[in-house]
Amino acid sequence: MFSCKICSGHIDLIHDFGRMPIANHYLKTAQADEFFYHLQLLLCQKCSMIQLGECVAPSQMFHENYHFISSTSQNMSHHFERTAFDFLQLVQSRRDPFIVEVGCNDGIFLKHVACQGFRHLGVEPSKNVAQASRAKGIQIIEDFFNEKSALKIFNDKGPVDILYGANVITHIEDLASVMKGASALLKKDGWFIFEDPYFPHVMEKGAFDQIYDEHIYYFSVLSVDCVARSFGFKLVDVSPQPVHGGSMRYYLRSSQSSAQPKAVVGKYLQLEQKMGLNALSGYLKFCEKINQNACSLKNMLRKIKEEKNQIVGYGATAKSSTLLNYSKIGVDLLDYITDNTPPKIGKFSPGQHIPIVSHERFVEDHPAYSLLLAWNHKEEIFLKEASYRNNKGKFITYVPQLEIV
Ligand code: SAH
Ligand code: TYD
Ligand code: ZN
Repeated sequence: MFSCKICSGHIDLIHDFGRMPIANHYLKTAQADEFFYHLQLLLCQKCSMIQLGECVAPSQMFHENYHFISSTSQNMSHHFERTAFDFLQLVQSRRDPFIVEVGCNDGIFLKHVACQGFRHLGVEPSKNVAQASRAKGIQIIEDFFNEKSALKIFNDKGPVDILYGANVITHIEDLASVMKGASALLKKDGWFIFEDPYFPHVMEKGAFDQIYDEHIYYFSVLSVDCVARSFGFKLVDVSPQPVHGGSMRYYLRSSQSSAQPKAVVGKYLQLEQKMGLNALSGYLKFCEKINQNACSLKNMLRKIKEEKNQIVGYGATAKSSTLLNYSKIGVDLLDYITDNTPPKIGKFSPGQHIPIVSHERFVEDHPAYSLLLAWNHKEEIFLKEASYRNNKGKFITYVPQLEIV
């Protein structure tokens, strides 16, 4: 039996996905052994936090051979360049501001801070991507962000103006330690800013593939507001971000700061209460969609395959691990998955063991159908694959709806 990781409250099951492999764990051979855990999505009706039950140990997910490399998307590179510009404006009138990023990966955000000579630090436990950041002239500590590492940074380098985390705060099971660390590290008028996929959008789109081991928390404005209050912060602003299928950026400040929450925070809180996100009944439709979407996609793939067409996957995303393993879509339906991340190529997908191949192979093959597993990068990929699409190549998309385009 689990209790809420945030408030110890009673917890209810939203959906059980069964046993799943580690989503970013690509195998060297099709026969390799792998670790499975039980993927269950749970809701605390007291603090509205959606969360996993069993969690994989951080050292099993984030290590010297982490396969997700941020700069593989140009659209994301532009997003983080704009973000750096906005944040530098927030602190430019301050004397020698200090910006710390949690989970900086290959430096996709911090390189824009470092190259302008601002004081900065990336906290990144995965050695291979930490090295890639260092190679770009970024200051790094190879560690997990938590209360202990935050205190060390504070003692060594002093207080922080902006603490930022993109697509990482959701990864850290001990959220209390993150909040205490943020509180110890920040100046009184500092900012704790983070962004993650916004769960109400995940539900609207039926994008159940966003649920996997690394995503331990599924934030809404309601749940972030509650966490902020519990740890001496207030949520003063929120800003939707058009990435990863719909993210939300949360701006937290010390509860002692004179800053007042913007009206938009109240608007979202009302909206989410109306959606019933603090009660199990608010999730029934989403649960129905999970099985409907999984079934209708598999039926479509089967039909296309029966007509003797080749189908491949496009984008070996972590998300696709949940989709392919839950729907049991394997090598009988997808010949391979193409991806542009060098360390993924030549390996096999977790669970279904589908080969991952280069983009060159995809261009050579020109398969009749491609299942767009990286649906969050649709615009970027459609631009890149204009010639494939103009020459009878078809994409199958399943989020926000199932269609052939
Ligand atoms: N911010 C980047 C990377 C997101 S992937 C982007 O949005 O593209 C998450 C990154 O956080 C990985 O590089 C992982 O190694 C790192 N990470 C995971 N747990 C962490 C923790 N406790 N502290 C700091 N970084 C962490
Ligand atoms: P992404 O959707 O960002 O994240 P996650 O793994 O967390 O679900 O992953 C995108 C994947 O798609 C990544 O492995 C790189 C790959 N990709 C391509 O192969 N080609 C492209 O043009 C783009 C944008 C991504
Ligand atoms: Zn709770």
